[in-house]
Amino acid sequence: MDNNLQPDPTIFVIFGAGGDLTWRKLIPALYNLHLDGWMPERIIVLGLDRTEMANDEFRNHLQAGVNKNSRRGKVDKKLWNAFAKKLFFIKADFEDDKSFTNLAERLAKIEKDWDTKANKIYYLAVPPGLVENMARRLGNAKLYEDWQRSRIVVEKPFGRDLESARKLNGTLTGIFLESQIYRIDHYLGKETVQNILAFRFGNTLFEPLWNRHYIDHVQITVAESLGIAHRGDYYDRAGALRDMIQNHLLQLLCLISMEAPVSFNGNEVRNKKVDVLHAIRPIPFEQINDFAVRGQYAAGWIEGERVKAYREEADVATDSLTETYAALKLFVDNWRWQGVPFYLRTGKRLPAKISEVAIQFRSVPHQTFPAAALMDWRPNRLLLAIQPHEGIFLRFEVKHPGMTMHLSPVLMQFYYREAFDIDPPEAYETLLLDVMRGDTTLFMRADQTEAAWQVLSPIIQAWEKIKPFSFPNYQAGTWGPEEAEILIARDGRSWMMPTYLQCQENLAACHIMTGASS
Ligand code: BG6
Repeated sequence: MDNNLQPDPTIFVIFGAGGDLTWRKLIPALYNLHLDGWMPERIIVLGLDRTEMANDEFRNHLQAGVNKNSRRGKVDKKLWNAFAKKLFFIKADFEDDKSFTNLAERLAKIEKDWDTKANKIYYLAVPPGLVENMARRLGNAKLYEDWQRSRIVVEKPFGRDLESARKLNGTLTGIFLESQIYRIDHYLGKETVQNILAFRFGNTLFEPLWNRHYIDHVQITVAESLGIAHRGDYYDRAGALRDMIQNHLLQLLCLISMEAPVSFNGNEVRNKKVDVLHAIRPIPFEQINDFAVRGQYAAGWIEGERVKAYREEADVATDSLTETYAALKLFVDNWRWQGVPFYLRTGKRLPAKISEVAIQFRSVPHQTFPAAALMDWRPNRLLLAIQPHEGIFLRFEVKHPGMTMHLSPVLMQFYYREAFDIDPPEAYETLLLDVMRGDTTLFMRADQTEAAWQVLSPIIQAWEKIKPFSFPNYQAGTWGPEEAEILIARDGRSWMMPTYLQCQENLAACHIMTGASS
C-alpha cells in the first residue's frame, strides 16, 4: 500500500445512519475499504439519526446490511468485529442546532484524544428536502471552519430544476468552499465509466477518429428492468429526466465528448466537462417532440414474471403523469461534434439492466468492392459496455474465407473480468475513498450541475405545460414507447439492441452489433 494514497486520520459522520443508503451502500463500501487496507489507521464512523439505538444494536443492524449488500457477501466475524469497533451511534435531531454543537464538541474531543487534526466528513444521507437546513446548521456550529479537512457530501438530486439547483448551490457555497463540497453522482465512481477517460486519452489509436469526420452518431442507453421498488414517494416527484438523465446520462455524454484535459486533476477534468454541457444546443420549445420523448410503463412481463403498472406502484398517484422513460436527441455544437447526434435513452421496466455507449462510425467514403461482396457489410462500431458485462467491443470487416470476395463483420472483444483477475471495487468504495483523500475529480462541481439543468430546462418546461395524453404508453418488459422509435427513425437510424442481449454469453458466435441501424 502506498502510504501517500491512504487518507489522514478521519472522522466519518453519517447523518441518516438508520437509513437505506447507509445500510445498502455506505457501510458495505467502508467495510470493503477496511478489508482492502485503504482505511486510515485512525478512523471513527459516527452515525447520527433520530431514533435511539445502542452501539451494539447499530453495529448488528449494519452487519446485516453488509451481509446482504457487500460484493464480498457475508462478513468474516473476526474481521467485522475489528471494523465494528469503530462505529458509534448518536441520537440527533437534525432540526435542532444543539445536535450540531454537541457533534462539534464530540469531534473536538476525538481530535484531542488523537492529538492530531482529522478529516471530518459530513455525509448527508438524508432526504433532499433536509439538505439546505442541515448545511446551515453545520455552518452555525462552525463545522466548516477547518476548510482543508472538513468536507460535506451531498447526494443527488441537486435541486429539481435550474432555479432550485442555484439556490441549493448558493446555500452550500455560502457556508463551505467549493473544494469542501462533494456532490455524488455514483456513475462517476464506476470502473467502466472511469475507464472512458483511460480509453480515450491513454491510447493514440482512437482519438484521431473521435470526431464528426468519422463518427456518424452516438447512442447512450441506461436500461433497467427494475421498477421503482419502494421509492414511489421520491420517484413520482422526480421522473426519468431528473433521476437519470440530468446526472448519469449527461455525465456519460460529457466523458464521451469532452476535449482532452491537460492533467487528470479535479478542476481540469471538470472544466472540460462543463465546456461540453455549455455546447449542447438548446432545444426549441416548439420542436420539443422532435428531440425529447417520454413514456410511462403499463403492466407487463419481465423475465417470465407479471409486473404491475407504474400507476399501481406504492406511493404513486393513480393518475400520475411522471415519466419512467425518457429519450433525447442532443447536439454538441463545437468543431469536434457539429452535426453528430447523441441519442440518449433510459427507462424503468425495460427488458434488462444494461448500460452501454455505442459509437457508430461513418460508412467508408467509397465502396471499392462489388455489390455482391457487400451483402453483410456493416460500418465500424465501438461499444463500451458499462454494465453488467463490462467490456469493450470493436466491430470491423474482414474477408469471409472462400474463393470469392465477400466482406463479413467480426468482433474484437475485451472483457474486464477475463483480462483482470480481480473483483473491481464498487462505485461507492472509490468515491468514499476519494472524499477521505480530498480528491474532487469524480464529483460534480456547482457549475456542472447547473449547466446540466440548463440543458434540460426547455424540456422540463415543455413537459410541465403540455401534459402527456397517452400515458401509460409502453408495456413493462418492452424497449419503451413507439415515439422513441420514431424519434430516431426520423433520422434514418434505429436504437441498437444491447450487445449482451443479442449474444448472451456467446459473443464469438454472434454477428453482433448488427442492429437495424448498422
Ligand atoms: C440512481 C437512480 O441514481 O441510479 C435510480 O436514482 C437508479 O433510480 C440507479 O435505479 C441506477 O444505478 P445503477 O448503478 O444500478 O445503474
